[in-house]
Amino acid sequence: MWVINVTFQEEFVEEVRNSCDIVEIISEYVDLKKTGKNFVGKCPFHNEKTPSFTVAPEKQMFYCFGCKTGGNVYTFIMKKENLSFPEAIEFLANKAGIVLPQPDDSAAISQKGRIKNIILEILKDAANYFYYNLIKTESGRHAFEYLIKRGLSKEIIRKFGLGYSLPEWDSTKKFLESKGYDEKSIESAGIIIKGKYNNYYDRFRGRIMFPITDVMGRVIGFGGRAIADSDSQPKYLNTPDTVVYNKRKNLYGLSIAKRESSKKGIIIVEGYMDVIALHQAGFTNTVASLGTSLTIEQAKLIKRYTDEVYLAYDSDEAGKAASIRGMDILNDIGLIVKVIMFPEGLDPDDYIRQKGREEFHNKINEALPLMDYKLMTLKEGYDMSSPLDKRAYISKIAPHLLKIKSFVERDAYIRKISETLGIREEALRIDINRYSKKNQYGNTIEHKKVLKTHNNKNNAKFKIMPAHIKAEWDLINLLINEDQVYELIKNNFSLSDFIDDINREIAKIIYSLKNSQTEISPAEIVDKLGREEYVKRFSHIVARDVIYEDAEKTVLDCIAKIKGYKLQQELDNIQQLIKKTEASTKSNEHELNKLLVKYQEILERKKSLKFGC
Ligand code: UTP
Ligand code: MN
Repeated sequence: MWVINVTFQEEFVEEVRNSCDIVEIISEYVDLKKTGKNFVGKCPFHNEKTPSFTVAPEKQMFYCFGCKTGGNVYTFIMKKENLSFPEAIEFLANKAGIVLPQPDDSAAISQKGRIKNIILEILKDAANYFYYNLIKTESGRHAFEYLIKRGLSKEIIRKFGLGYSLPEWDSTKKFLESKGYDEKSIESAGIIIKGKYNNYYDRFRGRIMFPITDVMGRVIGFGGRAIADSDSQPKYLNTPDTVVYNKRKNLYGLSIAKRESSKKGIIIVEGYMDVIALHQAGFTNTVASLGTSLTIEQAKLIKRYTDEVYLAYDSDEAGKAASIRGMDILNDIGLIVKVIMFPEGLDPDDYIRQKGREEFHNKINEALPLMDYKLMTLKEGYDMSSPLDKRAYISKIAPHLLKIKSFVERDAYIRKISETLGIREEALRIDINRYSKKNQYGNTIEHKKVLKTHNNKNNAKFKIMPAHIKAEWDLINLLINEDQVYELIKNNFSLSDFIDDINREIAKIIYSLKNSQTEISPAEIVDKLGREEYVKRFSHIVARDVIYEDAEKTVLDCIAKIKGYKLQQELDNIQQLIKKTEASTKSNEHELNKLLVKYQEILERKKSLKFGC
């Protein structure tokens, strides 16, 4: 076998990783089922009857609790397809339709800015071309009529620059070439695709085109909707991630919505059509997440313009799971989150067309605050007349309640829950608090029971491990999950303080990443770890959620545990020495004294750990 001798630029490795959703990729090999925020299935790397293979979309990681294999999307493909790291990158890049960088073109990288500008020009010209097709050509007429039939005005079509791509294989390509652009650039813009025989053809054919713009209103990509619903082709095709477009970092409609958002907040919907319908009805503060669940990048973008968001997702099941995840991301960044709910089967576009703008306005006013929405949706499937179900429900909502920073607000919710469940407020409070303390390090007997009732095999598989090791695991998780604790950890805990060698190596890599960038994702860390045993351990650590109320306090607790353990070991050693010295025939008064002083000294240090470290 020949080995491809390429080292890819870090940005490229990241671009490909970000373009390949781990759930989507693994689904091609494993039958995955959704449970909570994760997916589980039977491990493809060992034989098993009950699934212990978990995929976490938020973290873009997988882990098998059975055979302890884990990692990111590259690790998976390397193992499954038996490829080297660069080969896995190439494999996934092809899948995602990302052009591989030509070897030896470091000069091209310095030209990144220039290429970006060309791509933006291409996209702008393409958008104008699509618009022309829709409005002026015979072939585009049925597309135009379709939009009119769906209630869009000519004016809104123009405002959003909607268009039509002709059904021919290469009309857009020909048009852009006639404007002087070369194939490579048109391909990099995501407009054409290279076929089997190295021939290029249009990505979008016979579709209604929705130009996607960045916050400045520049066209950075397209969504293309099939006009007739059919099983043989996807309803929407979208521009893949390119130099200028990253679906995780953009929101459809934001360049318009940002104008009024500071007063009215931002309404987040799922689809292109929802955005346009709402804008037409006057809700010009609407954006769409474009079919993916919300990301941190999108949340940050929104936070630039407003403090309040309304989630208006479809009413189907998927919508619910997605909105809870999205809500948490938005909430964690400090936005006030409310959820608008629609009758079964309707999306915002359907709703406003059926009921009108007044009714939609009422929906906004009636939007449920984050916690109320969670309390309601998480209740599903539980029989509240059964004490066991009540307990299971409480364990499910407890982490969400503990997330509420304001005690007054948390108190109000506890009161509310106690009323609806018919449980004394005091009992509920004790239960929830107990849950918080015990859950920080998991695995108390009470906690295990709850896990069992949930039949959560993966969590139940956590073996009891020594507290100091668990504390190291938690520290690593906190380092990844909480941007703000890095300084605290760095200042109080050096790499040499880690007891476990593998944990220390993992932390070393995280520290070095943290020094050069603020945000790091677990999947990114995997690529930097290199050695398989590190990847395995790290995946295991990440697969195990830490639940905590106060990140800073948890960090200090962990540090105290680890340092405390080390000091205790030293104490044990000295004690041994003291015993030996005492027992020795030629008793050495001086030596013994020295040991006793040292023992006392370490004991003091250990005691003082409790008051900060
Ligand atoms: P919907 O199927 O709800 O589409 O998907 P929609 O916007 O309401 O469109 P209409 O009303 O049926 O015409 C919601 C969003 O999910 C993404 C698109 O961004 C879409 O707007 N999506 C959906 C895709 O990217 N690909 C698909 O095949 C389907
Ligand atoms: Mn729709």
